[in-house]
Amino acid sequence: MKPSAPPKTYRVKSFGCQMNVYDGERMAELLGEQGIAPAPEGEEADLVILNTCHIREKAAEKVYSDIGRLVKSGEAAGKKPLIAVAGCVAQAEGEEIMARAPAVSIVVGPQAYHRLPVMLDKAVQGGRATDTDMPAIAKFDALPTRKKRAPAAFLTVQEGCDKFCTYCVVPYTRGAEISRPFSHLIVEAEKLVEAGAREITLLGQNVNAWSGEDDKGRSIGLDGLIRALAKIADLKRIRYTTSHPNDFTPGLIAAHGEVDKLMPYLHLPVQSGNNRILKAMNRQHTADDYLAILEQVRAARPDIALSGDFIVGFPGESEAEFADTLKIVDEVRYAACFSFKYSPRPGTPAATMDGQIAPEVMDERLQRLQSRIGHHQFAFNQASVGKTCTILIERKGRHEGQWIGKSPWLQSVWVEASAEIGDMIEVELAEAGPNSLKGVVKPRLVTAA
Ligand code: SAH
Ligand code: SF4
Ligand code: F3S
Repeated sequence: MKPSAPPKTYRVKSFGCQMNVYDGERMAELLGEQGIAPAPEGEEADLVILNTCHIREKAAEKVYSDIGRLVKSGEAAGKKPLIAVAGCVAQAEGEEIMARAPAVSIVVGPQAYHRLPVMLDKAVQGGRATDTDMPAIAKFDALPTRKKRAPAAFLTVQEGCDKFCTYCVVPYTRGAEISRPFSHLIVEAEKLVEAGAREITLLGQNVNAWSGEDDKGRSIGLDGLIRALAKIADLKRIRYTTSHPNDFTPGLIAAHGEVDKLMPYLHLPVQSGNNRILKAMNRQHTADDYLAILEQVRAARPDIALSGDFIVGFPGESEAEFADTLKIVDEVRYAACFSFKYSPRPGTPAATMDGQIAPEVMDERLQRLQSRIGHHQFAFNQASVGKTCTILIERKGRHEGQWIGKSPWLQSVWVEASAEIGDMIEVELAEAGPNSLKGVVKPRLVTAA
């Protein structure tokens, strides 16, 4: 490639999970330190980072169509953007991307992006750079401090996965489970709060596998970290995702009943309601193990909103086995759920299992599942009507004077009020839709002295 002028503007496009959103923000901060500015809306950027996801086939294929589109729109604007591919597709298919997409200058894996500045220098000189090393945790130490962000911020506390569910690429793209040190997390959380965050969501592929030592040298788990973070005065809300049933501890369950700032919402994926399928998935828990955890969490925090992930059409899934998934959905009465058609991923054991399910069968099962999930979500929202709660305002609504915030149960609530982003206001939930609720600001009672 020909040498190019150093980029003045960048755009980071993140796909996939919240951890990619977090990584995308950190890459942006790193580029900012290099004097590169975010590209103004509607303008072509000099440097585009595609921060990719490899979890399902469609997500991975998107990379190549996006690269093609970038080259075309660059040509139309008379420029040739530097293209970097980051994230999990970069990790899994780095060499293939370099071979298939000559327009790409940089391939950088999720554990190596702190080295972006050096790679960028090479790309500017006309070279191509690939870095998919997985040095445990090194990147966090090499990143700049946190800058002003939205009121709801993400904080990666744990990365990687040792579970090896038979369908999943994450253990290959994100590497082994590691926990970031306690003191680093407290410092980063304090910086985020100083920069305006009122809510922090702790992130990890298996966030409840986090372990560390507190400032007194005691061994603690995620619940201990949550209790320590709750002491930061201006941090008002704590959430965490995604947890795994096998790493759930009595301490974490108790925290749901005891820590006011820990929001009443739990995302705990189960994937299937059938034990034979769970075994073939290598989940290492049964449907009953899972239900027992939820029962205890509900006992600790009766109003908790529950959410989960489901896969339909895992190889060999029979109609009766799928019916067990519908059954567990009805039993739990989730407030929200994510559900996916099984997607065979190269290199995973399930991809070569017998009994791959026809796409039309998967389509039909997904539809039935989503209709049950939608039913329960709407019912949960309807049951919230009449409750008074605080919402954290995150953005403007469609009309003047309208604001959208999140309830403690992670529902979107819109309200007419004189407010600002980052405000926490008390509302009564007045009307429920399938995906959001209307809140009404409660008139303050003024009592004469
Ligand atoms: N660590 C989390 C989530 C990881 S990925 C956990 O174990 O729960 C997010 C979700 O994507 C998974 O929960 C699963 O429902 C879905 N998923 C992962 N691999 C998939 C595949 N090959 N096909 C379809 N869905 C998949
Ligand atoms: Fe993937 Fe399973 Fe690990 Fe979750 S626990 S990231 S689904 S291997
Ligand atoms: Fe996707 Fe990687 Fe997250 S595969 S879901 S971006 S960990």
